[in-house]
Amino acid sequence: MYFLLIIFWSVIVTDARRRHPTFYANKDLQYYWNETYANVTLDHFSYTNGQQFPLRFLYNLTYWKPGGPIFYYLGNEAPITTFASATGIMWDLAPLFNASIIFAEHRYYGQSYPWGINDTFRSIQNLGYLSSIQALGDFAELIPLVKNFMNCSQDTPVIVFGGSYGGMLAVWFRMKYPTITAGAWAASAPVLLFKNGGPSLGAYFNITSRTFLKSGCNETAIRAAFQAIDNYSTNSSGIATLNQIFKVNTSSPLTTKEDVENFLKPYIREAFESLAELDYPYPANFLAPLPKWPVREACKYLSKDSDSDFDRATHLFNAISVYYGNKTACVRSDKCPDAGFWADLAWSWQECTEIIIEKCALGPPNDFFWSYCNESTVLSMMKENCQKIFNNTGYNTTMLREDGVEK
Ligand SMILES: *[C@@H]1O[C@H](CO)[C@@H](O)[C@H](O)[C@H]1NC(C)=O
Ligand SMILES: *[C@@H]1O[C@H](CO)[C@@H](O)[C@H](O)[C@H]1NC(C)=O
Ligand SMILES: *[C@@H]1O[C@H](CO)[C@@H](O)[C@H](O)[C@H]1NC(C)=O
Ligand SMILES: *[C@@H]1O[C@H](CO)[C@@H](O)[C@H](O)[C@H]1NC(C)=O
Ligand SMILES: *[C@@H]1O[C@H](CO)[C@@H](O)[C@H](O)[C@H]1NC(C)=O
Ligand SMILES: *[C@@H]1O[C@H](CO)[C@@H](O)[C@H](O)[C@H]1NC(C)=O
Ligand SMILES: *[C@@H]1O[C@H](CO)[C@@H](O)[C@H](O)[C@H]1NC(C)=O
Ligand SMILES: *[C@@H]1O[C@H](CO)[C@@H](O)[C@H](O)[C@H]1NC(C)=O
Ligand SMILES: *[C@@H]1O[C@H](CO)[C@@H](O)[C@H](O)[C@H]1NC(C)=O
Ligand SMILES: *[C@@H]1O[C@H](CO)[C@@H](O)[C@H](O)[C@H]1NC(C)=O
Ligand SMILES: *[C@@H]1O[C@H](CO)[C@@H](O)[C@H](O)[C@H]1NC(C)=O
Ligand SMILES: *[C@@H]1O[C@H](CO)[C@@H](O)[C@H](O)[C@H]1NC(C)=O
Repeated sequence: MYFLLIIFWSVIVTDARRRHPTFYANKDLQYYWNETYANVTLDHFSYTNGQQFPLRFLYNLTYWKPGGPIFYYLGNEAPITTFASATGIMWDLAPLFNASIIFAEHRYYGQSYPWGINDTFRSIQNLGYLSSIQALGDFAELIPLVKNFMNCSQDTPVIVFGGSYGGMLAVWFRMKYPTITAGAWAASAPVLLFKNGGPSLGAYFNITSRTFLKSGCNETAIRAAFQAIDNYSTNSSGIATLNQIFKVNTSSPLTTKEDVENFLKPYIREAFESLAELDYPYPANFLAPLPKWPVREACKYLSKDSDSDFDRATHLFNAISVYYGNKTACVRSDKCPDAGFWADLAWSWQECTEIIIEKCALGPPNDFFWSYCNESTVLSMMKENCQKIFNNTGYNTTMLREDGVEK
């Protein structure tokens, strides 16, 4: 879902696919809503700052009958319309429960910027109010406003929903605001994917690899394809071949081995991550239009090794095209930032302060990727990237709190 960053394509970016710019509304199941705004408090934790800003929410009251609950989605790190299109469960269940449907946007995403698009991200003074706890404060403050808006009783029960980071928010909301929530539905919420949470550093890529190897991919073929990329990256004619095979935007081509390392390889890895996360048994349109079992589709190109590096790289391109499409691509995220730029930047801020997810590909025997960090480098690489991304805002790495979620 959008996962973020000029330079943010780099190693830290734990969640790049979430930040991927192109969000598609579900074409097969079209949902309809209206949108409006309500003023919420900028700083929920001081008594001295009364500043407010307009937070967007979407509503559909078609199925609602007095006495029915409010189904209340807690938005995550992208425009809220993304999640309204992708969260079919709320639309499926609402008629059965006479429920109203509300999707609330997360502050600093979509249309909910405290200082408009040009100033919100300018300085740490403004960025400092972007955190999960402030967002939960917004969602809490919004509930009575939504009830007024609906003209329903303030006793109307609220069920919160969320997926991914939004699922974490749903869990945390129920914990922190139990008196105003009757229930929480958290889907695919990696609530334990933090320091001391349990999963090992390599767990994510171990499972990602397993998904591919159980879907028709051959490990030898995949590793040879990665090796072919490395082979090509050693000289300029090889890099030109990579630009051609991967249909890299000709206005911002890869030119050095470092470009291959910093942009093309993360771009390839991101496709593997996203395909595994989006490996639904039915066609879907979240983040990208995908067929059912998309990993199986990708593995059709990686089921056996080839004789030449050209074929290996081409097969790899074909495999990731299941996710990106078979078309010209912006691989150099520093040179051709796209529509997802601001959401990516906002998510990077969260990843550089509070949402610290440490994960690395470690290579065999843990996974089939190339190793790009380990226990002793993961945090320092993250900090280095954060400093680069936010250097001109006044950021420094004391603001990155490794235990921000735990404590
Ligand atoms: C609410 O959603 C349902 C299902 O998508 C749709 O039929 C209805 O027209 C929507 N109502 C409004 C006001 O958009
Ligand atoms: C909702 O949006 C539709 C289409 O834009 C519009 O016709 C309708 O009047 C809106 N309803 C409300 C309650 O604003
Ligand atoms: C938010 O507050 C401002 C300033 O008081 C006001 O002009 C605006 O209409 C309010 N917006 C909403 C959506 O209530
Ligand atoms: C929904 O409303 C209908 C009509 O008012 C009612 O018969 C039904 O029992 C309600 N459903 C639920 C789950 O409360
Ligand atoms: C933001 O800045 C750009 C370029 O300076 C300007 O064109 C645009 O109108 C500004 N947008 C807002 C909402 O102020
Ligand atoms: C709530 O009541 C007001 C005043 O009667 C009315 O204008 C508004 O349309 C109602 N809102 C809804 C969502 O029915
Ligand atoms: C996952 O890691 C275990 C060891 O921890 C290893 O035995 C297994 O092969 C790995 N799975 C994949 C798909 O690489
Ligand atoms: C993968 O391919 C290699 C060489 O092409 C072959 O030796 C190996 O048996 C294959 N692995 C599986 C699990 O089929
Ligand atoms: C990579 O280059 C080496 C050395 O030239 C070569 O032996 C190998 O076949 C090439 N391809 C792969 C996939 O290893
Ligand atoms: C991608 O498009 C090219 C033509 O632009 C075509 O030759 C090729 O077969 C396509 N690849 C796949 C995997 O569909
Ligand atoms: C951050 O900015 C300072 C002062 O402008 C500069 O000296 C430093 O090199 C920059 N650091 C990075 C990582 O860009
Ligand atoms: C980093 O920021 C903190 C908090 O603003 C400040 O106390 C500290 O002096 C800064 N450190 C550096 C090296 O700039």
